Amino acid sequence: MRILLALVPCALGEIALSNEWRRQHCVGDMRTRSLVVATATDSPNLLPILAVINSTLTHAVDGDVSHVVITRHVRRLHAAVAKFTPTAQVTICGGFSDLLTQRPPLDKLQRLADTQRVRRKELLSPFNFAAFYLPYVLREASRVLYLDTDAVVEADVTMLRSLDMGGAPAAAVEDCTQKVHKYVNYELLEEKDHHKLGGEKHWSRFGLSDAAYSNETCVFNRGVVLFDSARWRELRLTETIEDLVDAFVSTRAKLWRGGISQPPFLLTLAGRYLKLGVEWNVRGLGRLELGRAEWMLLAQGAQERYGTPGLDAHTAPAGPFRHTFNPYVSPFAAHAKILHFNGDVRARRPVKPWMLSKQDAENWRRLGIEVSTTEDTTRHITGVCKLAACPTAVNVTTGRRLRSKCETWTSSEDVDGRVRYDQQRRSLSGERWTAKTLKTFGAYYGHACVARAPLCTCRSDMSDDCVTSCAALWHRYVSEELSQSFAASDVAWANDSIASTPHHLRALSDSRRLTEVQWWL
Ligand SMILES: *[C@@H]1O[C@H](CO)[C@@H](O)[C@H](O)[C@H]1NC(C)=O
Ligand SMILES: *[C@@H]1O[C@H](CO)[C@@H](O)[C@H](O)[C@H]1NC(C)=O
Ligand SMILES: *[C@@H]1O[C@H](CO)[C@@H](O)[C@H](O)[C@H]1NC(C)=O
Ligand SMILES: *[C@@H]1O[C@H](CO)[C@@H](O)[C@H](O)[C@H]1NC(C)=O
Repeated sequence: MRILLALVPCALGEIALSNEWRRQHCVGDMRTRSLVVATATDSPNLLPILAVINSTLTHAVDGDVSHVVITRHVRRLHAAVAKFTPTAQVTICGGFSDLLTQRPPLDKLQRLADTQRVRRKELLSPFNFAAFYLPYVLREASRVLYLDTDAVVEADVTMLRSLDMGGAPAAAVEDCTQKVHKYVNYELLEEKDHHKLGGEKHWSRFGLSDAAYSNETCVFNRGVVLFDSARWRELRLTETIEDLVDAFVSTRAKLWRGGISQPPFLLTLAGRYLKLGVEWNVRGLGRLELGRAEWMLLAQGAQERYGTPGLDAHTAPAGPFRHTFNPYVSPFAAHAKILHFNGDVRARRPVKPWMLSKQDAENWRRLGIEVSTTEDTTRHITGVCKLAACPTAVNVTTGRRLRSKCETWTSSEDVDGRVRYDQQRRSLSGERWTAKTLKTFGAYYGHACVARAPLCTCRSDMSDDCVTSCAALWHRYVSEELSQSFAASDVAWANDSIASTPHHLRALSDSRRLTEVQWWL
């Protein structure tokens, strides 16, 4: 008989993984420490999880930290942990998505899979919601550090056990490049709230704070979140998220955009979380490019912090798109406590570090990446591409472009007397990019080796010899043997794509199980 959670609506306090459930669904070291590092993913690629575990272990001085991994690949990961990180205390649990789809709002959400309302079906995967239930399922842990699997740890996280959270239920890094309101249809949200009394706001249905409704509230990045479990449960925030998801399903128009699980999380925690320093989530390290405004912010930040406007030397406008720069440069990596290789939320595929070999990652100056943008060929191909060195300089005070050497011979003035800058970059066949031939980013990146992997600083200055590809930083936690083992397996280890529907995924993982186990035996 399967042991289920106590699934009484509005009685979330009852949710807990019973010992019996654990015995049935989890393997590994079952001791739970006061600080648990948790990850949850349905990707068959387990290499990133091992990088998370190894990096945490490498820096945890007293070793008093345990891991919980929620996956569909329990036995395979268990074998890999035993082989590669034998001293880590890791509990690996499967069966979690079945558990989550017993929550009525998540179950209802699955029904949207057969409709047109959600185009990217992978957004419906219950794994996306796993983080919100961790304070319930890991009750013994007073603090849970949730990490996306595309992160690695660069510092001793055990310090988070005693961090003063000032009564906040969670802590995360604020991201002011976007505001929460961008994701939410407030009119609909207020319509859904039946507790508006005498013109005064009473958000009692969802229990959101006023900050959730403000145009000025910034988002936070959900890839690194520290939960204070008891406080989170006390405020019943999982219930708030469930109420919002329920409202999303029952509202005909879109209550929010930009994902399914992210906006309710942003709304629920708005104005309520402790803001961690940027070093706790140095992000964007899987991005191909950045917008000019973001680039200006980064360059300014680096200049203020390190006094050296050295970003210019490494970044240049991407293709014919003058307001977009490639590569992504992170000036804060030198002080990172956690590096986060998340990509661009817009459809283009991110450059995950495991998609590059260690050699390629280290040889960033010659490295190019071919990115296929079509759905069924998701491989990112590394290669030695010839990028014309064409640094662009921008005066960070005024925001004006300065002419760099190689621009002078292609710039020309248009009819209004404005200076036009054409791109130096060419396809491998020597073809010049022009806005006429390449109208979309997809065409640009899909065409040939043109993009460079994100770059990170290795010290606090930005001098030329102090820049490395961010991917190389990730590879430090993955030995040659480890990455070879995964490369040799019959599992498409570098395949980051998530199959289209949860049902399809379920079938996939079942049919795969046999070969995976065989590989390890
Ligand atoms: C918030 O933004 C919306 C849409 O941009 C705008 O209509 C509204 O007036 C703004 N509210 C405030 C208080 O600025
Ligand atoms: C940037 O602009 C400021 C203000 O106009 C100017 O003082 C400074 O010299 C400029 N810097 C460079 C490198 O051109
Ligand atoms: C774990 O990380 C350490 C430190 O960077 C590295 O030396 C070691 O090879 C890694 N272990 C594995 C199994 O990759
Ligand atoms: C990646 O995985 C998906 C399903 O997980 C599969 O449909 C696709 O063919 C795979 N792509 C490659 C290049 O292996």
